[in-house]
Amino acid sequence: MLTRPIPSTGEALPVVGVGTWQTFDIGNDRAGLDQRKEVLRVLFEAGGKVVDSSPMYGRAEAVTGTLLGEMKARDKVFVATKVWTSGEREGIRQMQESSAKMQVPVIDLMQIHNLVDWRTHMKTLRKWKDEGRIRYIGITHYTDGALGDLAAIIRSEKIDFVQFAFSIGQRAPEERLLPVVAEHGVATLINRPLGSGGLFGKTRGRPLPPVAADIGAATWAQFFLKYLLGHPAVTCVIPGTGKPEHARDNVAAGSGVMPDAAQRRLMVEAWERG
Ligand SMILES: NC(=O)c1ccc[n+]([C@@H]2O[C@H](COP(=O)([O-])OP(=O)(O)OC[C@H]3O[C@@H](n4cnc5c(N)ncnc54)[C@H](OP(=O)(O)O)[C@@H]3O)[C@@H](O)[C@H]2O)c1
Repeated sequence: MLTRPIPSTGEALPVVGVGTWQTFDIGNDRAGLDQRKEVLRVLFEAGGKVVDSSPMYGRAEAVTGTLLGEMKARDKVFVATKVWTSGEREGIRQMQESSAKMQVPVIDLMQIHNLVDWRTHMKTLRKWKDEGRIRYIGITHYTDGALGDLAAIIRSEKIDFVQFAFSIGQRAPEERLLPVVAEHGVATLINRPLGSGGLFGKTRGRPLPPVAADIGAATWAQFFLKYLLGHPAVTCVIPGTGKPEHARDNVAAGSGVMPDAAQRRLMVEAWERG
């Protein structure tokens, strides 16, 4: 799988990860756990690393931690989770709980979820980074309406990552955030890269356009993910799935040719034609 450097350190990050919202929020039934374990195995075997979670996602952090423990995969994974609460003490308590649930003493990336009480948590995150409890600091959101706030924080604070929603069906970040990201050297995690699954509603039963063959996209999922990865300011996409066959499909988007600017325009035209 291709990698891209995290601008603040130069560390290489594989370009396709996995998101855990809903898809990893499951109970203790063994068949369900084994299915998610296979999702992680597919990710690691393809050279992927990033697993994104949050205390907002019910049991997803605990399920991820249990599976990483069973797989003894600490050295293979880049754990990203979030703080999603108000107040300094509550933030600290929640992050300690995430570390325990995910069974990692050091969290690779701690993000302020949907910018909730971000000024308070930013102070704690700086301290935790200095102390080596987290390796990177990030902020997240999922609405176009928050892009201006994300951009303003990138201009005023030193952060390592920004996570936001971006897909071929939701392209506002190309104008409103990615230029700022590139200027300030911030890594990006792309949430909702498949429009939370909604993109498939428009393409069901439709053949792939000719440009798909030129960029090695064999499925619509690969087409959608490669569209994002063709943008130079995109570091990693984190499609959510609980299904190994979908994970195999998604990781395949992380290697081979990525579309250039002209091909990305053709991809948008094909998408818009509907
Ligand atoms: N504010 C925030 O910080 C924020 C907000 C939203 C999301 N996120 C993060 O971003 C991640 C991704 O976003 P998302 O899960 O909302 O949306 P997404 O990745 O765009 O789409 C996920 C949906 O697509 C389906 N899917 C995945 N791969 C597929 C494939 N190859 N073929 C067909 N269907 C496929 C999944 O179902 P199956 O399980 O059936 O595969 C799931 O329903 C989340 O899991 C979460 O970690 C963060």
